[in-house]
Amino acid sequence: MNVLGIIGSPRKNGNTAALVNAVCKGAAAAGHQTEVINITDLNIHDCVACGTCKTGKIEYCAINDDMQKLYPKIVEADCLVLGTPVYMGQMTGQMKNFFDRWYTFMDANYQIRYLPGKKYITVTASGAPAEAFQSLSDYLNHWLGSFFKLELVKNIVGGSLGPADAINSQPELLAMAENIGRNLK
Ligand SMILES: Cc1cc2nc3c(=O)[nH]c(=O)nc-3n(C[C@H](O)[C@H](O)[C@H](O)COP(=O)(O)O)c2cc1C
Repeated sequence: MNVLGIIGSPRKNGNTAALVNAVCKGAAAAGHQTEVINITDLNIHDCVACGTCKTGKIEYCAINDDMQKLYPKIVEADCLVLGTPVYMGQMTGQMKNFFDRWYTFMDANYQIRYLPGKKYITVTASGAPAEAFQSLSDYLNHWLGSFFKLELVKNIVGGSLGPADAINSQPELLAMAENIGRNLK
């Protein structure tokens, strides 16, 4: 299986990164091919609603930025591990810009292309206790699962993770994340 981890946190060694990396470490140990990308390092423009992706004239998107490298990776992945910190109750702005650019995965007839049947795992990390932001997992499940037709493996919801290294005091959560990767089928 080809597993693609996406980290939407500007803290390169923060909690989200640790959890996404743990999933991918487990997946690699089980023999899967893995790649982890922090999108906050990349040049990802916001969607400009030009509609070119609905004309059938281009493969993915008219904006010539780093999404051009990411689209094929997303399309080739069998499992996406999408990780974001909670910022103001939502995903980070970087993650939302990245996600808006998935507009191309609806074709000219507004049918979903490339994504249905892939698996996905979400990772969210918040300063507040985990229960406080189930709403973000629900939102992601609606769009990834119900709308884009990916298959949920697990929502990993990290809470009480204020400081960047707070995850180190929750080794059981890291172990759970690694196990989820190891058990991917
Ligand atoms: C701009 C900003 C907004 C935040 N908003 C929230 C929030 O709404 N709720 C919350 O519980 N934590 C919030 N936090 C805390 C982060 O979610 C928390 O520190 C998280 O672990 C960061 O993940 P990271 O280490 O992967 O960057 C916010 C942090 C920042 C910098």
